[in-house]
Amino acid sequence: MNSNEIPYEKQIFVCTNDRKGEKPSCGDHQGEAVFQELRRIAKERGLHPKIRVAQAKCLGQCSIGVNIMVYPAGHPTDARRGSPENECEGRPDGIWHSGVRLEDVPQLAEKYLLEKK
Ligand code: FES
Repeated sequence: MNSNEIPYEKQIFVCTNDRKGEKPSCGDHQGEAVFQELRRIAKERGLHPKIRVAQAKCLGQCSIGVNIMVYPAGHPTDARRGSPENECEGRPDGIWHSGVRLEDVPQLAEKYLLEKK
């Protein structure tokens, strides 16, 4: 086993689980489409895979989906530590997005997929 620092500046996990109506799931609200659109924007802006948009197959909060969690960049000593969006070491930014809809993607993209100049 090897252990290394996370090779991404940020990881955005989008739940794409679809239980086909048998139980509530993020698939009820286009989780897959939300994932695909965020990933497309990341690629279009040249941020993928530095900022990794990945699909999750359940984040455990199925009835309030679509759920997205974002892990912050880098190491706990990272200069961004302590910012309002990055208060917890090794934990999501402190913001758990739920009830995300496809129309929310542009807003999420502006928050997390900013182009670096
Ligand atoms: S189906 Fe998305 S959190 Fe469980």
